[in-house]
Amino acid sequence: MLNYKEQTNEYLAHIEDYLNRECFLSDEPQKELFEAMRYSLLAGGKRLRPIFVFDFCRMCGGDWKAAVPFAAAIEMVHTYSLIHDDLPCMDNDDYRRGRLTNHKVYGEAVAVLAGDALLTAAFHFLTKAPFSADIRIQAVEILSACAGELGMVGGQILDMKSEDRQCTKQEVLDIQSRKTGALFRAACMLGVLAACGDNEKRNAANEFAAHFGLAFQIRDDILDVVGNAEELGKAVGVDTVKNTFVQLYGLEICNKMVAEHTEQALKNLNCFEDAQYMTMLANELISRRV
Ligand code: IPE
Ligand code: IPE
Ligand code: MG
Ligand code: MG
Ligand code: MG
Repeated sequence: MLNYKEQTNEYLAHIEDYLNRECFLSDEPQKELFEAMRYSLLAGGKRLRPIFVFDFCRMCGGDWKAAVPFAAAIEMVHTYSLIHDDLPCMDNDDYRRGRLTNHKVYGEAVAVLAGDALLTAAFHFLTKAPFSADIRIQAVEILSACAGELGMVGGQILDMKSEDRQCTKQEVLDIQSRKTGALFRAACMLGVLAACGDNEKRNAANEFAAHFGLAFQIRDDILDVVGNAEELGKAVGVDTVKNTFVQLYGLEICNKMVAEHTEQALKNLNCFEDAQYMTMLANELISRRV
């Protein structure tokens, strides 16, 4: 097994190369749409969801490189969610991934359509993966359930509609599990699926990601208070109207919650053969600055 840094670089190189070379290069008359899609997709996010696809596949003994269409698909759904999240009618943000938001460059209408097209293309990429029809159908089932009205989109509307009132702890948990946790659950389960992992492994991946997703969003909300906009590539201090655990409990308790949810997440990795990489990654993200 490669060391942690080398493994990360290998995962990143594989997804960047695929997104760059295989996605949305076109001379069609609507090439402005393709350009807007690539503008956000290739803006250099952390690529955590693709890494989760790859590493869960590897941990289940699969050929992780073959899972790259699954990894690209989840990154497309994630990128679309960010483009729409930043729109004036949602969080109204000007910067994302270190550059102007999609609508600031291309206008709102094109940004909406670039998001729509990324979401649609994601499912096309799932169908192109080099796996059996059964595996690909299961992939569609996982991603659609996690991205849609019960998952990420469901979380986004709850997040938005609860801005003018105080939510309970349970409600905040529910919002964050959906808006952020659901796509991490999809990523981890797609990785297991790509390796034909059994139900025990799929359930473990799901549980891991549910806790990891909470830790990740709580850290995001902490960084909105203590983070640095330049480092993060997006504005800080913008989520004070939102229902977050930081608003409910303050920074100190939230730092503990991030560590606790990460620990809970890691307890689910026992059924995988070599969980060292994922353990290091999850632990590193507890104190991430980006
Ligand atoms: C940002 O996700 C949105 C949240 C779910 C908090 P990331 O922090 O993974 O964003 P990128 O992909 O690195 O830009
Ligand atoms: C976003 O949560 C979750 C999504 C589904 C995009 P945030 O609104 O906190 O994400 P950032 O801080 O803008 O990245
Ligand atoms: Mg938001
Ligand atoms: Mg936002
Ligand atoms: Mg945020």
